[in-house]
Amino acid sequence: MRRNGELFCEESPIADLAERFGTPAYLYSQGAILNNYERLRDASASLPALICYSVKANSNLRILDLLRQAGAGFDVVSGGELKRALRVGAAPDTIVFSGVGKTQEEIDAGLAAGILMFNVESAGELELIESRACALKKIGHISIRVNPDVEADTHPYISTGQMIHKFGVPKDEAPELYRLAAHSPNLQVQGVACHIGSQILDVEPYWKALDEILAITKQLAVEGICLKVLDLGGGFGIPYSGESPLNLEKLTQGLQVRLREGSMKLILEPGRSLVGNAGVLVTRVLYVKRNHRKNFVVVDAGMNDLIRPTLYGSYHEIVPVQDRATEKIQADVVGPICESGDFLAHDRDLPSVHPGELLAVLTAGAYGFVLSSNYNTRPRPVEILVTGAQAELIRPRETVEELMAGEDLPENR
Ligand code: LLP
Repeated sequence: MRRNGELFCEESPIADLAERFGTPAYLYSQGAILNNYERLRDASASLPALICYSVKANSNLRILDLLRQAGAGFDVVSGGELKRALRVGAAPDTIVFSGVGKTQEEIDAGLAAGILMFNVESAGELELIESRACALKKIGHISIRVNPDVEADTHPYISTGQMIHKFGVPKDEAPELYRLAAHSPNLQVQGVACHIGSQILDVEPYWKALDEILAITKQLAVEGICLKVLDLGGGFGIPYSGESPLNLEKLTQGLQVRLREGSMKLILEPGRSLVGNAGVLVTRVLYVKRNHRKNFVVVDAGMNDLIRPTLYGSYHEIVPVQDRATEKIQADVVGPICESGDFLAHDRDLPSVHPGELLAVLTAGAYGFVLSSNYNTRPRPVEILVTGAQAELIRPRETVEELMAGEDLPENR
């Protein structure tokens, strides 16, 4: 929101926050996160649905805690994410464990916690869960993640539901795994899962995936294997540059029609759609330079802080925090890292900016901080949660000393 040319996060002027906490800084609006959650909850109110927030999108404990308090469960993909969910007090039976490469330690941790289900992605994984459940005298609750072989119109790196992808079990092989699981005293079949990709803007691919899954469900019911849970994954797309978001109401209304006959509980695993538009990355202009061809705005945030433009060619809108300029320039917005791939935007039309001014990189709340790294020994940004005029530090900026901790040099050198 902008007032008199000044950009705000809720009721807090972003320039003041940058002054107080330094840059680069991730700012998150608590109100926006809760709004996003409530919108999906309301849209799915007539369905027996559990919203399991996909922790990978933004795993800050305060954000997880906020969503847990609002009623969300969690979709986790590692022992670390499981620990985070448990740390904020998530009920184990609201946690779904996804991922193609779960280790024995991670499986043991899920069994010990008593999670709602493992979404199993291979015969080998099913075998390991069964043997660990037996050894630990637990019951392994499982769903099979089916690869429905449908195309989702999104970036190839974040499309997951086709046979070229490593994810899930081919639909024709899933029934055999269900039969094995149903006969095991150490396993309990919960349901079926799929996730076809991320940043999907159209509902059609979901219907195609659902048709495939419901066909498997019906086939198994004939054999007496009853699936109680249907996990449709996440992937609900949001606008980055004026696109229309995935229509959540259309999605949930369509689900209602398609699931009418059954009594399956539905799980949704939204990540980006709950936190993406709630976050901005604030960065300060260090230099403005020109060569014979181009202008470069060099800022203090690099690809280590926000890798989406580099990795996926993603577009993030970039706006000045204080909009004073009348002139425009076209420039690459680049970071300080020693790589030509270190950019936040190419050939972007911007108000003419000067060193010391602040820029806000918008829609950076999902897959921003979580994908950041310490490349070039750069401490990762500070994270701030904004509520109205209040701003709270929810993760301090790292220090170089912390980055070197544990790399002790031998004493007698
Ligand atoms: N469930 C599963 C099994 C997933 O693999 C994912 C995302 C989600 C749910 C949540 O998807 P979402 O609702 O956030 O689209 N780093 C990429 C996105 C990677 C998504 C990976 N899986 C990006 O920055 O666009």
